[in-house]
Amino acid sequence: MKQRQLGTSGLNVSELGLGCMGMSFGYGNQPIKSDAIKLIQHAHTQGVTFFDTAECYGPFTNEEIVGEAVKPFREQVVIATKFGFKNGVVEQGVDSRPASIRKMVDASLKRLKTDYIDLLYQHRVDPDVPMEEVAGTVKDLVQEGKVKHLGLSEAGVDAIRSAHSVFPVTAIQSEYSLWWREPEQDIFPVLEELGIGFVPFSPLGKGFLTGTIDNKTEFADDDFRNLVPRFSVEARQANQALVDLLTQIATQKEATNAQVALAWILAQKPWIAPIPGTTKTHRLEENVAAAQVSLTSTELAMIEKAIADIDIVGDRYPAHLQKRINR
Ligand SMILES: NC(=O)c1ccc[n+]([C@@H]2O[C@H](COP(=O)([O-])OP(=O)(O)OC[C@H]3O[C@@H](n4cnc5c(N)ncnc54)[C@H](OP(=O)(O)O)[C@@H]3O)[C@@H](O)[C@H]2O)c1
Repeated sequence: MKQRQLGTSGLNVSELGLGCMGMSFGYGNQPIKSDAIKLIQHAHTQGVTFFDTAECYGPFTNEEIVGEAVKPFREQVVIATKFGFKNGVVEQGVDSRPASIRKMVDASLKRLKTDYIDLLYQHRVDPDVPMEEVAGTVKDLVQEGKVKHLGLSEAGVDAIRSAHSVFPVTAIQSEYSLWWREPEQDIFPVLEELGIGFVPFSPLGKGFLTGTIDNKTEFADDDFRNLVPRFSVEARQANQALVDLLTQIATQKEATNAQVALAWILAQKPWIAPIPGTTKTHRLEENVAAAQVSLTSTELAMIEKAIADIDIVGDRYPAHLQKRINR
């Protein structure tokens, strides 16, 4: 698979990464540990060199899975992980105090079975800790050799600029896909200006854009999508128009919806590397093959025109989690 550089940082990653969250957090029907490890190792044989995890996925177990899986080829891959929730637990709220970041990094290194983290993100901005202090702490960790690059997740323009003034930010990770394009407005121009890369999460719209979910789909009890307004039965029914558009393009291209959704993202900027998540080998292969699907400028313009007429219904997060996106 082709590589992309995240901004001007010098950090190269496979143009499609693998989001590992769903292997132990967020969605229902999680695989057993040995299957998750096999899946990550299979991804590597398919050319994937960019693996995304976080201390809060599980919590903690996801980093263990990733660490064990990539151990045989550690030097060939980029591990991205995240700190920033109190005790690693999302429900406890944010915590980016310098001492907490240091403690987390030491614990993550152990779980990841490595002595360096390639890309360390702050998972959410902590309104009680200045970004300069967060970036300064990561800068010290870089000087100590424990971390290679700084990233921020869902940060806003001011937070990005403040952190970058202290230590170069390599990547911003935020939600981005055909049904959530907000980063194009304020974030992309700043990333372009500062030479920062972009890592879209939920690039398949948490599965919805693939066309395998409809208004009759029932999620497992522990599946986060039960709480997401955009996944209410009414919203799914209304948002089917976008899936229908994707299906129409996919049919013309002899591709799948997931492949078109990923190819569309790859076509937006050369410094973007999405991290679709899956727990299934056949879907992993399908997603990886999206790197072979290219959309012409005519097709991209047609998509642009068609989606302008589609109103997406429902918030992307439940209200209590939306509040946690401090920018
Ligand atoms: N920074 C943050 O705050 C944040 C937030 C959310 C996610 N993330 C990261 O981003 C990664 C990706 O995001 P995501 O997992 O939320 O959403 P996603 O990649 O948009 O979608 C994942 C969902 O789509 C399904 N899927 C994947 N490929 C498919 C295919 N080809 N056909 C049909 N269904 C398919 C998966 O189910 P199966 O497993 O059944 O295939 C899973 O339910 C995560 O793993 C995580 O690492 C970060």
